[in-house]
Amino acid sequence: MPAPANKTPIGAILIRWSRRRNRHLPWRAARDPYRIWVSEIMLQQTRVETVIPYYRSFLYRFPHVKDLARADLQSVLKIWEGLGYYARARNLHRAAKQVVGRADGRLPESASEWEQLPGIGRYAAAAIASLANGERAIALDANARRILARMSAYRREVRDARAEHDLMECFQSARGRSAPGNFFQAMMDLGQLVCLPRRPLCAECPVISRCESRKRGIQNRLPVRAKAARIPHYDVTAAAILRSGKALLARRPEGKILGGMWEFPGGKRERGETLPACLRRELREELGVDVRVREKLIAVKHAFTHFRITLHVFFCDRMRGRPRPIGVAEVRWVGISQLRSYPMGKADRIAAERITGLR
Ligand code: ADE
Repeated sequence: MPAPANKTPIGAILIRWSRRRNRHLPWRAARDPYRIWVSEIMLQQTRVETVIPYYRSFLYRFPHVKDLARADLQSVLKIWEGLGYYARARNLHRAAKQVVGRADGRLPESASEWEQLPGIGRYAAAAIASLANGERAIALDANARRILARMSAYRREVRDARAEHDLMECFQSARGRSAPGNFFQAMMDLGQLVCLPRRPLCAECPVISRCESRKRGIQNRLPVRAKAARIPHYDVTAAAILRSGKALLARRPEGKILGGMWEFPGGKRERGETLPACLRRELREELGVDVRVREKLIAVKHAFTHFRITLHVFFCDRMRGRPRPIGVAEVRWVGISQLRSYPMGKADRIAAERITGLR
């Protein structure tokens, strides 16, 4: 998208428009690279409105990278609870420890250095380095891909390697000589406020006259995306084993989805298995206990990125065996009034709230 000499550069138009919109986002005021880093990690796959309260409480609790490095993982996961994609929190914590453990203890200053840290991919490194360090890195996220694909009426699927290269060129050419951090933020504003995934608000677009797909009336059909795979559904069982005002909880292994979070023990139903049989098998395999499955406490539906589940939680009586962490990281009897202080995924949290309410 080379800008003809007689036209105002696209970057300059977008930045002026973004300044006028004057969107107040708490990380916008940040100069501290740590704060920018936290915000970019939280904003991955997550809407701005969802992130804002989490961002505030996270920085209240861990105002400096040293505070995060010193914290234990459980308290980091607890603050993150509800935001999802918990690997982000685990990696952020691990990365904070690495930074603080270095001889100079300083944060990275370039995209390639940021990318060395756990949980920071090419996009996040570029975003942080352009915002925090003013580096002319190219941060191509879904917003930027959509905007650039529409502006240049780009017909290829936007996630293949060739498109990545082509759209990076578009990004650079649109940015021109504008300040990288300001340009990046203006792109985020345009993608989130105007150039929306479905039904872009073209009448409000400051660069409508430069938009090739709008000229051709195909803006609603771009960007081209590969057809999404069907999302599978799984039935998952879990046990509410209650004794003397306590519930038995298990901590999930760290390498897995919801790693480090606590749950009512159980697992995925296999083909042809009944729910109670599944639960008995899972508790034998994971904790080495035999249980009697009683009535159902609750069924909770929950969607992850690549699959959906129904979590069926049953009251159970423990019949034989002392719970041992065979297929889980840890097992613990937790006072029902303490359940809220243990980090859990959404479905288990709903079940825990129901149990708390029974008392
Ligand atoms: N999404 C990713 N980074 C962002 C930022 N800095 N502001 C708004 N949305 C974003």
